[in-house]
Amino acid sequence: MNNLNYSCRVCNSILLDIYEFGNMPIANNLLPKLNEVYTKNEYKYKMEIGVCTKCSSLQIINVPDKELMFNNKYAYFASQSKFMKIHFQKLGQNLMKLMDKENDYILEIGSNDGIFLKPFAERNYKHLGVDASENVVKTAKENGINAVCKFFNEQTSIEIKNTYGKAKIIVITNTMHHIENCQEVAKGINNLLADNGTLIIEDPYLLDMYKIGSIEQVYAEHNFIWSLHSYRALFEKYNIKLFDVEHFETHGGSMRYFFSKQNILETNLMKDYIDLEVKNKIFDINTFIQFKENCIKISKALYDFVVTKAKEGHTIAGYGATAKSATTLNYSKIDNKLISCIYDSTPFKIGKFTPGTHIEIKNANLFSKDNPDYTILFAWNHKDEIIEKEKNNKSRTIWVEYIPELKLTYAN
Ligand code: TYD
Ligand code: ZN
Repeated sequence: MNNLNYSCRVCNSILLDIYEFGNMPIANNLLPKLNEVYTKNEYKYKMEIGVCTKCSSLQIINVPDKELMFNNKYAYFASQSKFMKIHFQKLGQNLMKLMDKENDYILEIGSNDGIFLKPFAERNYKHLGVDASENVVKTAKENGINAVCKFFNEQTSIEIKNTYGKAKIIVITNTMHHIENCQEVAKGINNLLADNGTLIIEDPYLLDMYKIGSIEQVYAEHNFIWSLHSYRALFEKYNIKLFDVEHFETHGGSMRYFFSKQNILETNLMKDYIDLEVKNKIFDINTFIQFKENCIKISKALYDFVVTKAKEGHTIAGYGATAKSATTLNYSKIDNKLISCIYDSTPFKIGKFTPGTHIEIKNANLFSKDNPDYTILFAWNHKDEIIEKEKNNKSRTIWVEYIPELKLTYAN
């Protein structure tokens, strides 16, 4: 265990630097072609994770420049999952009830292709989306969303305030953990959140990640894994108070956090989760060490399985060219020599190659025809949706899950 005097980006205490992953590519940097121009110049960074025993924040220590991750080639399009669409539609419906159509507006930070704001736009609610990746902002605008392409920071918040005033609702789903400078975001939110406004954040939850051993939630983009305690530590200096939470099974376990500048009574559920975090020793370095050992075990089990089946002459494919799987594939050293391809329905990803491991991404509609013997479910967070869909397509593959442990599911 090293203590290299890195400071926690959330609370400024000393971070314990204990986990090195080796060289990693940027998870969403898919290669357009498999030739030397791309493979030789592929950007890699040394991925190390630190954990703060003061506020419980888990974070990547050396984050690559944000322009390398969020740009006009950003490969994540939020609209791909029907289930996630419904999940956020429900949140949108509830938030509309809190808004006065004449006077209020909703701000979404990390608005991606506009999937969340679309119902607001259709019903003429005032709204604004901010996202740092040009290509997804372009798609959002084409969908009729009022969106700007910017990194959200204090300066951006001032510009937005000058044009739109303060926001009644600020929503940040699956984005806050992307932003290295979380202090800037907190300052920006403080500038923009109306006194009677609500801030809603949702992202993968630390306790779930510890529980299921999903180390692949961490990659240079998921720079933080947040908890109730670490979010409270971030916002308390602005008097932005956490008052409620809601837990979901999405993305392997996510937490939705509700904050306000007002003194709203804390819910019992929120208090229960605070207690649960303490009971599960999120401030104890040994919790993290156990998690790390579990992740090594999971990664080895997957590698051994793939090597054995490949030697037996079976075809092995993947399903879901997820950003998460970039961590697993690169860390487990599973590449295009072991896996034939990964199926995915995202048009932007099809025909490209996975970063570091150079596995071809094929159109998911070829899956049932190709019918690989084994298919590793990299999009395990969309398991039911994908298995159901492919069952209807008469696929007969054997599904392979690897988190929290290796598990095979037969088509019949
Ligand atoms: P996602 O959940 O966004 O994870 P990450 O944040 O790790 O990238 O990735 C899901 C991937 O799976 C995405 O590339 C789309 C793909 N997918 C399909 O190909 N078919 C489906 O039915 C679903 C739900 C997802
Ligand atoms: Zn901290």
